[in-house]
Amino acid sequence: MGSFNIAVIPGDGIGPEVTNGTCEVLQVIAQKYGHSFHFEELLAGGSAIDATGETLPASTLAACKKSDAVLLGAVGGPKWDSLPGKQRPEQALLGLRAGLGLYANLRPAVLHKELSQACPLKDKYVADGIDIMIVRELTGGIYFGERGRRDGGKSPDGQDMGQEAYDTESYSVLEIERIARVGFELAMGRKKKVFCIDKANILETSRLWREVVGRVSLEYPEVEVEYMYVDNASMQLVRRPSDFDVMITSNIFGDILSDEAGMITGSIGMLPSASLGAPGKPGMYEPVHGSAPDIAGLNKANPLATILSAAMMLRWTLGLRKEADAIENAVSKVLSEGYRTIDIAYSEECTVLGTREMTQKVILSIV
Ligand code: IPM
Ligand code: MG
Repeated sequence: MGSFNIAVIPGDGIGPEVTNGTCEVLQVIAQKYGHSFHFEELLAGGSAIDATGETLPASTLAACKKSDAVLLGAVGGPKWDSLPGKQRPEQALLGLRAGLGLYANLRPAVLHKELSQACPLKDKYVADGIDIMIVRELTGGIYFGERGRRDGGKSPDGQDMGQEAYDTESYSVLEIERIARVGFELAMGRKKKVFCIDKANILETSRLWREVVGRVSLEYPEVEVEYMYVDNASMQLVRRPSDFDVMITSNIFGDILSDEAGMITGSIGMLPSASLGAPGKPGMYEPVHGSAPDIAGLNKANPLATILSAAMMLRWTLGLRKEADAIENAVSKVLSEGYRTIDIAYSEECTVLGTREMTQKVILSIV
C-alpha cells in the first residue's frame, strides 16, 4: 500500500484532456489496489507563459523535484510560435529534463496486434511484429551544447560569408556510460540485443560512443551488440523493423528515429515515453504525440498514449508492476473489443469514441 505524490503538468493543446483522463485512470488503480495518489497540478509551457510570463516557473521545477513522479501532457502551440528561441514553450521540456537530470528517455514503439492495419508498411515487412525500445540520451549532445551566431569571416576565395550560426555536439564518457547501462539493463529483460546507433564514420562523438558502449558491453557478456550508422538504421527501420530491439542513441538521433519508429507502428497517438534520471529520483512520463492544437478541446484526442505513459510510471518509478500490467491489459482489451479514437479508426467495424468515452472504457476494463 503506497502513498505517492504525482506532479501533473497538463500543458497546452490536448495536454489537459489527456492528463485529466489519465489521473482518473490512476485514481481507479489506487482504489482497486489500496494506494493513494496525490496529484499536484503545475504550470509549464505556453499556459505558463500566459499565466506567469515564464515557460518553466521555478515553483514548477521545485515541485517536480519533490514529487515521486511527473506526468506531463504536452507543451507548445501556434500562439507561442513566434516567440524567440529561449522563451518558447518547448524550453520548458528542456528545462525539466535538465533540472530533473532525466538523462534516459525510453520510447517503446510497439505494433499492437489489434492495430496492425494502422501500420503503413506492407504486411510482409511486419509479419513478425514490431517491438522496439529506443533509448535516447536526453540531457546532452547538440540539444545542450554551446550555440550561437557569429561573423562567418571570409571564404577561401575572399568572399564575405555573412553571419553564421553554430550548434555543438559533445558527449563525455560519463554521459555515454550511464545511458549505455540503461540500454544493456533493459536488454537483459528483453531479447539480449542492443543496437548502438551513431555516425561513427564522421563524428568524433560517435567514435567515443562506440568505445564506451564496447567497454560497458563487457559487463553484459550475454548481450549481443550491433553498431549501425544512423542513416542505415533509418532505412532498415522501414525494411526490417522486426529485427530491432533496444536501440541506444544520442539525443538528436533518438529524437528523429523515435518519430520514425512511432510512425511505423501506425499511430503516434498510442506511444508513451519515460524519462529517467538517477535511481530514486522522480521520472517524467509523457505521451510522444505533442499538443495537437488543431483538435484541442474537441474530445477527439487519443488518451491512450498518456494512459500507457502512466503505466510506465507505475512500473519504472513507483515499482507497481501488477498495477502497470492492469492498465496495459485494460488498453489491450478495449482495443480488442474494437473501440478506437479517430486517429486509429482504420476499419469500418470499429466503434469510434471520443477522448472521454475512451478513457471511461479503459477504466471499466481495469480488473
Ligand atoms: C520530443 C520533441 C522535443 C524534442 C521538442 C518538442 C523539444 O520533439 O520530445 O521528441 O526535440 O526533444
Ligand atoms: Mg521529437
